Amino acid sequence: MKIGIDKIGFYVPNLYVDMRELATARGIEPDKLTIGIGQEKMAVAPFTQDTVTLAANAALNLLDEADKKAIDLIIFGTESGIDQSKSAAVYVHELVGLASAARSFEIKQACYGATAGIQMAKGHIALNPDSKVLVLASDIARYGLNSPGESTQGAGAVALVISADPKIMVLEDKSAYHTLDIMDFWRPSYSDTAFVDGKFSNEQYILFFETVWKQYRAKSGLAFKDFEALCFHVPYTKMGLKALKPTLQAEGTKEDQERILENYQKSIQYNKVVGNIYTGSLYLSLLSLLEQTAGLEAGSRIGLFSYGSGAVGEFFTGILQPDYQNHLNSTQHKNHLSARRKISVEEYESIFRQELPIDGSTIELDTSKDLAPICLVGMTENKRQYVNKQRMA
Ligand code: COA
Repeated sequence: MKIGIDKIGFYVPNLYVDMRELATARGIEPDKLTIGIGQEKMAVAPFTQDTVTLAANAALNLLDEADKKAIDLIIFGTESGIDQSKSAAVYVHELVGLASAARSFEIKQACYGATAGIQMAKGHIALNPDSKVLVLASDIARYGLNSPGESTQGAGAVALVISADPKIMVLEDKSAYHTLDIMDFWRPSYSDTAFVDGKFSNEQYILFFETVWKQYRAKSGLAFKDFEALCFHVPYTKMGLKALKPTLQAEGTKEDQERILENYQKSIQYNKVVGNIYTGSLYLSLLSLLEQTAGLEAGSRIGLFSYGSGAVGEFFTGILQPDYQNHLNSTQHKNHLSARRKISVEEYESIFRQELPIDGSTIELDTSKDLAPICLVGMTENKRQYVNKQRMA
């Protein structure tokens, strides 16, 4: 049975900071952020968006009534969830109006969560071929104001529908994965910002890619030449390139190397102007590749490298399906990105410092400036309150 990505879309908040302005405010060379790290803009979530609403907005854009009836499993990957007990999947289930005969849960392994969700979804479809699975990848990346990781923050969500006979990409069965207990990036429950050993994390990411790439080639018998493109988890766009370079220099013909490099550049266009969305980053990169590259033919094989600090890595592959371009929302996505509003560094800092009450008191938020249909409207008795404005229209 063919199982894979039937639909894929994203939602990012409508505010961003220009990286040159952030660099100037922090007293560093703008080129360090735009060239050294490879980031142009950083998405900022307003106070009325959290990981639940970002994912719900991504799903709302993507699903039609037939999907809503067929989906019986909702898997929510996040490492910046809003509750230690109740899963974000249950909130999204209600906010977008999914069928009650469904399983819903949240999954965590740093930026690997959504990949784990997709692999589970494949198993579910193999047993239940008529059903569909909604996989959500949603995060707000927070390292802290003035921290070394600040320039690798961002916010956004990717939603994927996994089904049999998918319209966009069939996921192949062979996959290579690797787990190693390391402390390169982590966030204890008492902290709302992440801890990172940047240099070590970069080294491990590269080593993990080398490990799973080698393991994958041994398992599959495929080589560099068999790939049209490779997509990476991209906390910042220079990072994937660092992992790719040694392989580029050692394998394939010059033509293969040029093709993979050119497609890598296309795969990072969205990530460059959104920033780090943690577990959704790899899938935002896949969307960027598919929506920026008119020439990718059906039948092309795309390699996907997923990495979640701590750490788990996986390399897996997909084959583009006939007519896949007609099932993407390229124009809507490009318009959404270009309609965002630039905010000053001061405004970003003040949004960053905002906090919801933790004493059970009530707060009501003004959502009039938030263009998203689904927003956080406040909090009362320690419960977040959400609205789907489309239901009020
Ligand atoms: N012009 C162009 N490039 C410049 C520059 C300038 N003026 N100044 C510095 N750079 C380059 C550096 O040479 C370096 O490039 P290289 O890595 O190719 O050598 C890059 O900019 C970053 O500089 P560096 O000094 O390493 O930055 P840093 O010590 O402040 O670290 C991060 C910043 C973001 C790279 C680091 O904190 C990090 O990697 N964090 C995230 C890791 C992560 O996300 N892990 C989790 C999951 S994968």
